[in-house]
Amino acid sequence: MLSNQSADPAKRTSLHGHWSSRMAFILAVTGSAVGLGNVWKFPYVTGQNGGGAFVLIYLACVAIIGMPVMMSEILMGRRGRRNPIATMKLLGAEEGKSTNWSLVGAMGIVAGVLILSYYSVVGGWTLFYVMKSAVGTFHAIGPGEITDIRNGFLGSWSMVGLFHTIFMALTIFVVARGVERGLEQAVRFMVPALLLLMIVLLGYAISSGHFDEGLAFMFRPDFDSLTWNSVLAAMGQAFFTLSIGMGAVMAYGAYLPEETSISGASAAVALSDTVIAILAGLVIFPLVFANDLDPADGPGLVFITLPLAFSQMAGGVFFSTVFFVLLTFAAWTSAISLMEPAVAWIVEKFNRTRAQAAVLIGLLIWATGFGTVLSFNVLANFRFWRGTIFDNLDHLTINIMLPLGGMLIVIFAGWVMCRNSTADELGGSGAVYRLWRFLARIVAPIGILFVFLKAVGLLPSLT
Ligand code: PHE
Repeated sequence: MLSNQSADPAKRTSLHGHWSSRMAFILAVTGSAVGLGNVWKFPYVTGQNGGGAFVLIYLACVAIIGMPVMMSEILMGRRGRRNPIATMKLLGAEEGKSTNWSLVGAMGIVAGVLILSYYSVVGGWTLFYVMKSAVGTFHAIGPGEITDIRNGFLGSWSMVGLFHTIFMALTIFVVARGVERGLEQAVRFMVPALLLLMIVLLGYAISSGHFDEGLAFMFRPDFDSLTWNSVLAAMGQAFFTLSIGMGAVMAYGAYLPEETSISGASAAVALSDTVIAILAGLVIFPLVFANDLDPADGPGLVFITLPLAFSQMAGGVFFSTVFFVLLTFAAWTSAISLMEPAVAWIVEKFNRTRAQAAVLIGLLIWATGFGTVLSFNVLANFRFWRGTIFDNLDHLTINIMLPLGGMLIVIFAGWVMCRNSTADELGGSGAVYRLWRFLARIVAPIGILFVFLKAVGLLPSLT
């Protein structure tokens, strides 16, 4: 019999153990949130979507859609104390509603597998840059040579595949060991250190002479060039960077001690995540303009601008190695959370050990990852729908599955769960609770639906 089968939610416990403290939980969710999404993805999607207006919409999405979704996930996870599929099934039944809500959990698990399949490829890419930095390859070279290094790496499927394999092995290793050991320590050190190095890089970007241009690109909104597809991309990015919409935060919430404030923890995570993303943009864009690079260059953008900054800096070899090590850590702590829902599900449902579940799911993700590995070389010209296999996985997961999952999650917490249950988890029905409920019931679901319909052209334009 499961230890989490008590009828009283406050007495339920998770099979997988619990975070040792409130701080541990905040660090774990921050570790999940802060990752390649902030440093790699945010600058390049901003570049591809024209800058300032995109950034503004992204910030609005974090505040009025991201926050209520994150709070909903945590409260549901803590109440159910199981993997997302079982949690939604249990809560649906407890509220006297359908148990088919478990399908939302299932979609999240699939999204996690698909996202990690390409996330790990980029994680491997950062590992390759750790190695290149450490041996001094980036010392005193120019944009042309750095572009050649990037293209040379991406052009070789065996190299990209090798580093993807190493990254997946690292991820499986930590997940197999369980959540409490290892992970907490890593984030405790990593997030502050990453922030510090970002600030060092910011100093360099300011001295590049093109800081104003970078600043203007990020913050001067040009709404004329904004399409509904870029609004969808901004919303998708908000979901991706906060790790919401696929059950990772719900799974982490299942290990959360009873007394922790959910709104406080969510605000702390959203704030640190946003600060790191904005800093990354402020570092990258001045360097893009200083070196005549193209802000819309795509997934490889930071892998050119950052080495470039380091190549000219005093102590660059050292800083660059440290930076890519930290970025690898950031990616690693996110990768773990992408696997956690699937692993928790296998452990609970099929009575397997964590190690067995981690290896099984890990191998599946590893194999799927070759779709992305090959997208940059052998299959670069194999294009359909949105482009390469990587482009399609990216669009399907980030712009469709995460917002859709998030919409169903807030609808569940806002409409399916009764007031008593949610107020119980969110610490009473004060002003914060009322704001959450209004956002979760009305603003977030309608906002997400509206952006979806607009992006696929189903709503006529009024102008
Ligand atoms: N938030 C992570 C990042 O920004 C990615 C992620 C998405 C992690 C979804 C978990 C779940 O890199």
